[in-house]
Amino acid sequence: MDPRRVRSTSPVPGHVAIVMDGNGRWATRQGLTRARGHVAGEKALSQVVEDAVEIGVRHLTVFAFSTENWCRPAAEVDFLMTLMQRTLRNRLQRLHANAVRIRHLGRRTGLPPTLVSAIETAERLTADNDRLTLSLCLDYGGRAELVDAARRIAEDAAIGTLDPASLDIPTFARYLYAPDLPDVDLFIRTAGEQRISNFLLWQCAYAELVFVDTPWPDFDRRHLRQAVEIYATRNRTFGTVEDPGRSAARSAPGRQPCTSTNAP
Ligand code: FPP
Repeated sequence: MDPRRVRSTSPVPGHVAIVMDGNGRWATRQGLTRARGHVAGEKALSQVVEDAVEIGVRHLTVFAFSTENWCRPAAEVDFLMTLMQRTLRNRLQRLHANAVRIRHLGRRTGLPPTLVSAIETAERLTADNDRLTLSLCLDYGGRAELVDAARRIAEDAAIGTLDPASLDIPTFARYLYAPDLPDVDLFIRTAGEQRISNFLLWQCAYAELVFVDTPWPDFDRRHLRQAVEIYATRNRTFGTVEDPGRSAARSAPGRQPCTSTNAP
């Protein structure tokens, strides 16, 4: 069965997505440079990956660098690129030993070649790992992902390999950066902001949103567990209602059959 079609109602979210916000504010508050905030953020991420494995999360997707982050000061952009490359190199063996699969989501063409090469090495080495998939969103934007998908769909339609009339939700999803990435179950954003900020727009269609005030460098296993506990209390209906008569009503004469798969 296509894993994207399995909607999680388990108390443990299968797919957790995190906007790791607040590195800069965390650093500034302590009189440190923003770079030090990102270093602390990287440490927090490494720990959260281990905690997610322990909890039984299967997919962890993190927003590490957005399509909009290029507008930051050049020195900060350079620092982040170097930090990510260093992280991939230094943490790779441990992640591999923990059966974590690493992959990149986003546009690769604007990234420094040395970072792309570190990503490719990590992706190759960990390709068969299946305990947790860690998707690193770098030069990623939800709108860019949808535009890139739409462009490829239009190209396929133009050369006749895709019939526009056959385009439906599962077909569209096959053109996303990672077609096998399931819908997000739990979306977490740190540092008090309550926005999605162009992150996984397609995949978050039915995500449960949890916002925490803690800045990312201070986020640890207690916060992750708390977010999972909040998630477990949510009533996920995916646009339907909890009504035992529902299936009877659906099959009543004259009604359209409910083929609905709003989410892939
Ligand atoms: C947002 O905080 C954070 C980022 C734009 C970068 C995230 C990067 C890391 C956590 C470090 C390493 C990541 C990897 C994948 C190795 P902000 O800078 O916007 O904070 P602010 O809103 O307080 O200024």
